[in-house]
Amino acid sequence: MTAILTRPAWTTDLELEIFDKLLDKYAPHIPKKRAQEPRSPETDEERENFYRFRVAGAAHDLFIVQVCAKIIDSFADPELQLFLSRQIGDDGAHAQNTRLRAQAISGHDPIEDIQKQVQKHWDYMGDLPIRNWQGFLAFELHYELHIVALLFINSRTSKINDPDSAKFAAERILPDEAVHRLGVVDWWQRKFDQASPAEKEDLIAQVIEADEEGQRRRNPYLRDHWQLSQKAIGIEIDDLPVLYDTWRQEVLSYFLDIPISRLPKLVSVND
Ligand SMILES: [Fe+2]
Ligand SMILES: [Fe+2]
Repeated sequence: MTAILTRPAWTTDLELEIFDKLLDKYAPHIPKKRAQEPRSPETDEERENFYRFRVAGAAHDLFIVQVCAKIIDSFADPELQLFLSRQIGDDGAHAQNTRLRAQAISGHDPIEDIQKQVQKHWDYMGDLPIRNWQGFLAFELHYELHIVALLFINSRTSKINDPDSAKFAAERILPDEAVHRLGVVDWWQRKFDQASPAEKEDLIAQVIEADEEGQRRRNPYLRDHWQLSQKAIGIEIDDLPVLYDTWRQEVLSYFLDIPISRLPKLVSVND
């Protein structure tokens, strides 16, 4: 039996368990459940900040669509193609819903603002997402799995939201994103399971290298985005760096099937 079969499956329950363990250790004052229901943005300034936050959300999803659409045909793996086609459809629908909500709130179509932000993702990520399978896997890790610490913090500490966006997120985005994270884990495990022990060492080193490059490329964006999230929806960001870094360690440890103590010292979001 391989080590992978002895481990629990990657599920949303496991994510919650891991995240709450990190909270206990690094930020016990952050509530495990939301303390107050968010309210709608009220002033012009709040609506403007909320608009920028929504544009950033739509750009995240549209960037995923553009990357996956560019790369889908370079994989000769029909299982992976089916997963990516679902991801393209889902994240496209998320971007479109967010666009329409931003339009309802601002009174104008934000598509040009969204595409400008998508271009920023291309600028800072460079060719990493479409360079090779290692770069694409690192992209999927960063855009689907490493961001989960932020999503947990949002869901517990945000103070401003739009009810229609919240409803769509609960009914559609959350279940879709769980499928996406699982799809990435499945693809990787099929690849990893087939490798010999020596090949596994090699794969681990390749994935860490690409993931570290992704982290270095994303750091300025992440820090800016967290500031915007604090300003626009009122989340608590003081503990995000340590929660982000330790969450990412947990994801890589699970993925690569090695204990955290055996991971190399990783790039921090603060580097
Ligand atoms: Fe999405
Ligand atoms: Fe997604």
